[in-house]
Amino acid sequence: MKATARAYTNIALIKYWGKRDEVLFLPMNSSLSITLDKFYTTTTVEFCSCLSTDVFVLNNKLANEQELANVTRVLDLIREISGKEYRGIVNSVNHVPTAAGFASSASGFAALTAAASKALGLELNSSELSRLARQGSGSACRSIHGGFVEWQKGENEDGSDSFAKQILSNHDWDLSILSVQLNYGAKVVSSREGMKRTRDSSPFYSGWLATIEQDIKTAKEAIQSRDFEKLGQIVETNAFKMHATTLGADPPFMYWNSATYDVIQEIQYLRSVGIQAYFTIDAGPNVKVLCDPKDEKDVYEQLIHMPVVQGIKLCHPGPGITYLSNSSRE
Ligand code: ADP
Ligand code: DP6
Repeated sequence: MKATARAYTNIALIKYWGKRDEVLFLPMNSSLSITLDKFYTTTTVEFCSCLSTDVFVLNNKLANEQELANVTRVLDLIREISGKEYRGIVNSVNHVPTAAGFASSASGFAALTAAASKALGLELNSSELSRLARQGSGSACRSIHGGFVEWQKGENEDGSDSFAKQILSNHDWDLSILSVQLNYGAKVVSSREGMKRTRDSSPFYSGWLATIEQDIKTAKEAIQSRDFEKLGQIVETNAFKMHATTLGADPPFMYWNSATYDVIQEIQYLRSVGIQAYFTIDAGPNVKVLCDPKDEKDVYEQLIHMPVVQGIKLCHPGPGITYLSNSSRE
């Protein structure tokens, strides 16, 4: 009753922003992502009849009450499917900064779902895993798959048709994704709180919903035809739109800081001198830059020398969940 799984983080190309059901983690809109090859979580779950409660160790420290409750919720769903009542010890290590806008929750809940279901002897397919991971953190449903992924929002009230599907594998189209680290601190407004506040109070949210289907369609066409410029343009447009909705929320908030804007201007400068690079930003100040692999060195060199940049991790499309033997955890 023990298994170990690894899942990689993903960055949203077209954002998931707003829930229609907060209990089941059902989104207002579909979203698209790339799974990355450098940031990941490794999670081991061991169930035992000797335990009276779940235990969650995150990054070698006992997790807090809320973090444990979130994990127990997903374990409960998996226990229900398996018909087994055992409590479990979850030991998880993030090879990505935690709660800092680098999507540790996405890789974390994808790895947890895979490891826990395997430990209880379930052989779930990727759609079933995706539906379960979604209920830990929405974006986690996309990290079940590698490469380019679409989370289809679904229509059903029970969430049965709300899960992620792969569009292209990580071997089908190589892109460079530079994860530019400006600030390692925890977020001021979590993505969960931020999307709720925006949905509930921002007059700009209706504009978001009115155009999102077209953004998804444009991005999917760009991915299918490997049209990098078209993809870059829609990714930036969609990121700007998501961040614009937060400015209309009550109370308003923004995830950018001045360093974020410095990097945006640098990317715009690069384009003006003929280097095709585009950016996106999730629920934090850090910037992710997309470019063609032939340009990655130039883009890296240009950004790494900026005083506001603390570091850059150069990523490419990564794989979906993998299962590890229990002797090779790291
Ligand atoms: P991030 O940008 O890192 O995803 P969030 O605030 O959205 O930030 O999510 C951080 C939360 O996700 C943590 O407080 C914790 O509850 C959960 N989390 C992070 N890593 C893991 C993990 N490896 N396993 C389970 N839950 C995790
Ligand atoms: C801006 O998946 O972290 O990164 O479902 O409440 O856990 P919960 O939210 P989460 O939100 C991610 C928001 C985003 C956009 C995206 O990843 O699509």
